[in-house]
Amino acid sequence: MKKIIMTVIALAALFSFSCSKSNDVIKMGTNAAFPPFEYTLGTEVVGFDVTVSQLISRDYGKKLKVVDMNFDGLIAALQSGSIDFIAAGMTATEERRKNVDFSEPYYLSKQTIIVKASDKTVASVNDLKGKVVGVQAGTTGELFATEEIEGLNVKSFKTGIDAALALKNGAIEAIIIDELPAQEIVRRNVELKLVDDDFYTDEYAIAVKKGNTELLNSINKTIEKIKADGTYQKLIDAYMPLDGDVKIVSIEDL
Ligand code: ARG
Repeated sequence: MKKIIMTVIALAALFSFSCSKSNDVIKMGTNAAFPPFEYTLGTEVVGFDVTVSQLISRDYGKKLKVVDMNFDGLIAALQSGSIDFIAAGMTATEERRKNVDFSEPYYLSKQTIIVKASDKTVASVNDLKGKVVGVQAGTTGELFATEEIEGLNVKSFKTGIDAALALKNGAIEAIIIDELPAQEIVRRNVELKLVDDDFYTDEYAIAVKKGNTELLNSINKTIEKIKADGTYQKLIDAYMPLDGDVKIVSIEDL
């Protein structure tokens, strides 16, 4: 009897091992609250980064699994091996480079300020002094707000969308967040507006675990290829259309 039980346990262990370490799957970690790069549509995570990740996975010969989590947990998840790469509109900062390896940059963005449409006090980042400013936890917006400008009362939220709610109901006075998600928030909320000021640029890149050069080289090749063959531009046109009418792209159609 004991022998049978041991065999069953051994088989179960083997089975779960082979499932979780399935060799034909590659896991991309993201935080799907950042349109148009990643957001949810029903139960599915979609967006520019998701399509790019599908192309990366196809070139790498594996099936993509998208893992949605808090933005400030992504680097730890990569280091622990629970995800293989991060595609999350993540800025390649020097600080993060200590813990991860970044691909070639794939998108140039900047930080933007959102205030209430009725606000007449904020025309530039310097006008935020003394104000309560919302940011997404773990982002470059948070870093900038806490380290680069003095005298802000910074409040961190799980997502930019949560910060937008707080701004609407008066709990905070402004938000610092990346340009395209900011535009999306303002498009959906007429009572909010953007402040036109250039104060911080972000270069988005894909992160892999330090030393995973095999995957990194493959990712860089895909990025280089899609930029050269027009695919990248198609994705920009689909996910960042000037008329705001976003189209979800299937990689079979590219
Ligand atoms: N670019 C900013 C950063 O790297 C914000 C990225 C937030 N991304 C997300 N998927 N929520 O910190």
